[in-house]
Amino acid sequence: MPLVVALTLLAYAVVPLVEKLTLHWFVRDTDIRSRLIGNTLNDPLTDLLQQGNTTKINALLLRTIQDERLLAVGYCDGSGRLLYRTPTFPESLGCSLAGSKNSKVVSPLRKLPQGAVHIAIHHMEVEGKRMDDALILVNDMSFVEHRSADTRKYVIAFFALLGVITSVITVFVAHLSWRGWMEGVRAILRGEGILKPFSQPAVASELQPLVGDLRVLLRALDTERRFADDATITWSPDSLRKLLHKQLIGERILVVSNREPYIHNSQQDQIRVNRPASGLVTAVEPVMRACSGTWIAHGSGTADRDTVDQHDRVQVPPEHPEYTLRRIWLTKEEEKGYYYGFANEGLWPLCHIAHVRPIFRSGDWRQYVAINQRFADAVVKEADSDDPVVLVQDYHFALLPGMIRKELPKATIITFWHIPWPNPESFGICPWREELLQGMLGSTILGFHTPFHCENFLKTVDRYMETRIEHESSTISRRGQLTLVESYPISIQWPPPWQDTQPSVAQCRREMREALGLPPDHRIGIGVDRQDYTKGILERFRAVEKLLELHPEMIGRFTFIQVAAPTRSALDDYQAFEVQVRNLATHINQRFSNETWQPICLKAEHHDPEVINRFYRAADVCVVTSLHDGMNLVAKEFVASRDDEQGVLVLSQFTGAAHELHEALIVNPYHIEQTAEALHVALSMPELEQRERMLSMRALVRDFNVYRWAGRMLLDAARVRQREKLASRIGKEV
Ligand code: F6P
Repeated sequence: MPLVVALTLLAYAVVPLVEKLTLHWFVRDTDIRSRLIGNTLNDPLTDLLQQGNTTKINALLLRTIQDERLLAVGYCDGSGRLLYRTPTFPESLGCSLAGSKNSKVVSPLRKLPQGAVHIAIHHMEVEGKRMDDALILVNDMSFVEHRSADTRKYVIAFFALLGVITSVITVFVAHLSWRGWMEGVRAILRGEGILKPFSQPAVASELQPLVGDLRVLLRALDTERRFADDATITWSPDSLRKLLHKQLIGERILVVSNREPYIHNSQQDQIRVNRPASGLVTAVEPVMRACSGTWIAHGSGTADRDTVDQHDRVQVPPEHPEYTLRRIWLTKEEEKGYYYGFANEGLWPLCHIAHVRPIFRSGDWRQYVAINQRFADAVVKEADSDDPVVLVQDYHFALLPGMIRKELPKATIITFWHIPWPNPESFGICPWREELLQGMLGSTILGFHTPFHCENFLKTVDRYMETRIEHESSTISRRGQLTLVESYPISIQWPPPWQDTQPSVAQCRREMREALGLPPDHRIGIGVDRQDYTKGILERFRAVEKLLELHPEMIGRFTFIQVAAPTRSALDDYQAFEVQVRNLATHINQRFSNETWQPICLKAEHHDPEVINRFYRAADVCVVTSLHDGMNLVAKEFVASRDDEQGVLVLSQFTGAAHELHEALIVNPYHIEQTAEALHVALSMPELEQRERMLSMRALVRDFNVYRWAGRMLLDAARVRQREKLASRIGKEV
């Protein structure tokens, strides 16, 4: 705007100059014309004057002023008398100008009654000699004024137009560079780096020098906030609820998992509710109770269909409902392909690298894709906004994040991978590796238990996908979608749910020994697992055997109780494993047992969590010997159960838990003698040392409980959402 004003003022300054110049041109033209007319009239007029033919002279002069610009003509003799004139010749003009010596313009412009005129004097020439007689030619110059007015108009209009065009161009250029600048800021806010994939700059060049500083600042802020969160937040259901309301403005959480938290089964004409043996359910259920919302899962119980409403929903926990369970139905065929086949014969052994070959079948893959889509459709249906917070659980749903993202681009999708992530070479044998990775990268946040698994994932993506990876911020950017890859060590509820109702440790010890017909001072070890080949149950039994070999004084004085919940029994590998476990237990028992005692007590059936808690409290040592395990919550459950601060944990170095529970006796389960020795150390550990170790582990499980696990993911999600909202606000303002 100021530019337009300035240019208009400039135009006003320029106009007089332009007028002067154009006037000069017009006068010069008129001079030339007048000279031409004078020269043309000179000879015929001289002849007529000599003849004294007044009539013809007047006629000649009248004819001359037929020209539209020539107003009047007069003829003055050498003594200044006006001898002839056209009727238009102004009286007042007379012959005063005729004395001018040269035949040129004497007064180019004069104000006469006729308006602006140009007066030219032509001195007559006779036979080449200049006479004193003169022709006075009066030219109409009013057109000059019209033209000047027009010129003024055009000049001002030209400058005004120039001003407008310049302003538009300036605004346009400013808009472009502001947009570029803002895009850059948005990219940084989203955590994107300096370069977009395929070397297209994401950040305006003028911002480039600031990018590093801005990102360091953001990262430092995030880290500070995390530290502050950890230092100031005592994680509990209440703090998680508050966080949801404050940071996520009361968003309803949608959880998706294959396994449902409550299974309704028909038993002898009655409907019983079962709690599955699942680390995932153990962790996520208290979070859902705290946050409410909807949990979408496979309805696998025999009475599940009888307990849902017309929308396939049921309120749970059954005793005092706190959230909605939405069940998805699968046919036997679908379950076989998607769950048993692709997820558990393919991805499970692939990610655990536990010496069982993964099997990949095209038919299983097709079912996996179809069922992922079915769950994605359910998420879209259950979402009550276009930007829900969705928590996708585990390897059953690698494709789900991408599918949800397609329908709900603004959703905040937190995917947690509950099992290990292998190295790129191992993962690379999956025929659909790109599709799986692509699906996972639909997530806003992708969580693993340990930084090591995160690192493996980043390397895998780097190997097989075209993306941009920022190791510094642990983000992957692909086609405008940014995924934060972060470690969130999963945990359990604290305080444990049975804290106030559980029997004392002394009572648990007594009852267990009585039930097994053992004396009160009998030492007991406990193992609790699904009967899965990754859990190292065979190695554990061999360690018990080795203990008895190496320390025969323990024969008859120590019993190892193995709770082994049946799992995935439809699969050959699992059936074979169950047989192996049973046979080895039988073999060891046959080798060492007497009439009243046997070293291994195998309880190969489902037990409710409360019962398992009593087993933990009754034991002297808990043994976790997984060959590869994302976290292993049994280790944490054991620690949580021991409010007497007694008991020893023997823990495989190949579990995520070993990275946190440093006071456990850490073993390599493949090293049987080492595990046997650890068992012996545990059974002979003084009470004081047990207390010190247990106290420290309990403090960790208390502070790093499952509410922190969920809370940290939700806090990160809230931060991403805030940044995205800010980025899109900036985008709208551009
Ligand atoms: O370890 C992965 C996991 O999903 C655990 O979270 C859970 O303990 C286990 O597998 C359950 O397996 P499933 O649902 O096949 O019985």
